[in-house]
Amino acid sequence: MGGIFGLACKFSPSLDVISTGLKRLLYRGHDGVGIVGIVDSELVVKKYPIRSDKALEELRFFNISSKIILGHTRFATHGRPSLENTHPLLDCKGKIAVVGDGIIANYEELKDLLIQKGHSFSSRSDFEVIPHLIEEELDKGNDFLQAFLNTLRKLKGIYAIATLWVKENKIYGASMGEPLFIGKGEKCLFLSSDIPSLYGFSKEAVIINQGQAFVLTPQEYMVIDVKKGNIVKELTIKRVKYPAEVIDKAGFPHYMIKEIYEVPEAMLRAVAVVQEKYLNLVAMILHSARDIYVIANGTSLHAGMIAGYYFRDLAKLNAHVISAAEFPFYGLENVSIGTAILAISQSGETGDVLRAIREAKMRGGVVIGVTNIMGSRLTLDSNVYLPIGAGVEMAVPATKTFVSTLIVLGMLAHRIGVLRGIIDKSDERNFVEQVKALSFTLKKELGRIEKMIKGNVEIFKGWDRCYVSSRGINFPVALEGALKIKETAGLQAEGVETGELRHGPITLVSNGYPVIMIAPYEKEAKISSWKVASSVIEYGGKVISISPPDVNVVGYHVEIPETTKFLSPIASVLPLQLLAYKLGVARGMPIDHPRALAKAVTA
Ligand code: G6P
Repeated sequence: MGGIFGLACKFSPSLDVISTGLKRLLYRGHDGVGIVGIVDSELVVKKYPIRSDKALEELRFFNISSKIILGHTRFATHGRPSLENTHPLLDCKGKIAVVGDGIIANYEELKDLLIQKGHSFSSRSDFEVIPHLIEEELDKGNDFLQAFLNTLRKLKGIYAIATLWVKENKIYGASMGEPLFIGKGEKCLFLSSDIPSLYGFSKEAVIINQGQAFVLTPQEYMVIDVKKGNIVKELTIKRVKYPAEVIDKAGFPHYMIKEIYEVPEAMLRAVAVVQEKYLNLVAMILHSARDIYVIANGTSLHAGMIAGYYFRDLAKLNAHVISAAEFPFYGLENVSIGTAILAISQSGETGDVLRAIREAKMRGGVVIGVTNIMGSRLTLDSNVYLPIGAGVEMAVPATKTFVSTLIVLGMLAHRIGVLRGIIDKSDERNFVEQVKALSFTLKKELGRIEKMIKGNVEIFKGWDRCYVSSRGINFPVALEGALKIKETAGLQAEGVETGELRHGPITLVSNGYPVIMIAPYEKEAKISSWKVASSVIEYGGKVISISPPDVNVVGYHVEIPETTKFLSPIASVLPLQLLAYKLGVARGMPIDHPRALAKAVTA
């Protein structure tokens, strides 16, 4: 992920404008800022490979007299935060500059081809292939627009880019799944990754739809269909209306709800961010490991528990899934050469995880990190890591990173399953297709689910506690739902395996006690769960059932989309995240920053 902000003016604008734009886009990336302009027919590039908010302060002391400027705030997915990996990225001759947002899925093969042709690369960023590909196309005699379009046709992935070429006072850009918008001011035209950031600069925003490229000059813009190459006449225009204070939340009242609504997009990015080379390597390590420990804390631990089901079902691998805090007292003693440790931490900075992997490495274990933050300690201390590509998650209660972690671990389990001959390659391909299909469905359904959940908040009136229950692959979802309710709504919530509910916990149920039941995917488990739900009602409890359409459903039904076993935890967790959020709002809780919690507990 990343944020792109650019402008083409009739005069040389102050850098304050680009700084303001980028500041509003910080939520899209915090790993460094870069800008580029054209002065005396040369590109002038300035990069700050430091935290983006600090970088923007530094930018105040820089001066550039260029009518065209592109700026970028980076979210590191390929290549740690460093000078070389900070955008803009240039071609061999330093004449073409590219800034990008998203993921170029086929960059490895393109990079190999370009290196064979003599191009030299200076970064590990996937986006660096783009200026080199354009350079190739220009060398064939194409004009810049043609070279740009030909390059886009070679790229796979989900991304948006903007480009400068020293010979023209124009910005070339394209949206291929990540957003880009054009704004029109009196003396400048603007380009940005979201609409709210254009506030104060432009009254309207032209939406660049997926599969469209554009050319921007200080006077005008032109939108082109990338596939067909023709000019697009019918454009969608939106009013720029958000007040500056809510810009970084894109109009949502809290980061948490914004990030829940980003889940469908994060799902697609998780698929795109996984690189074949590393997926194979990690699959190989786990396949040949003598013992496997999955360690994590909080939400990441719940994702790890679901991964335990994935590994068993798809690859016949038994992994010990354990809290990173407990690992020193449980598995550490057994770690030696031949042990693999899969360490999950969205922040990559959780102290318990980092301490555990250091110890494990000292004993000869191989550490595989799974994280959202490139350049985090986990990426530095692991032997190999897999990014989850969820994009910046600002709210302390994790939502989209949970989902992204599940997808990456699901892909990993499928790859190991294929390697071990337990499942077919087609099962692996189907999984990716199912992720895409569910992402599409959830994008349509989230609003409806939110409305249904809103109606359920009343059930909690007079109660400061509840149970969240499920079984089978969705049991860890119950634990995650309970954690979310504790963190966000400030209620005492307990996650209970549905069978276990009868072995003690049910004794507290009376007089409207709220019990949230998540329908298990497994048929047997589902039948028995509805029986337990009925007895909850008999003892006076109130049941909210989160389930796909089902004739036997008990209590207040929150309907979720039907999906596969391995993706059912994703469909089930979203209503719980929304319920925790709605309850938190109703109770006036500090949603994004719960008391005594931090995004990463480092101590
Ligand atoms: C803290 C947060 C939790 C989070 C856990 C693990 O406890 O409050 O919400 O799930 O850390 O975070 P990690 O970054 O390691 O996934």
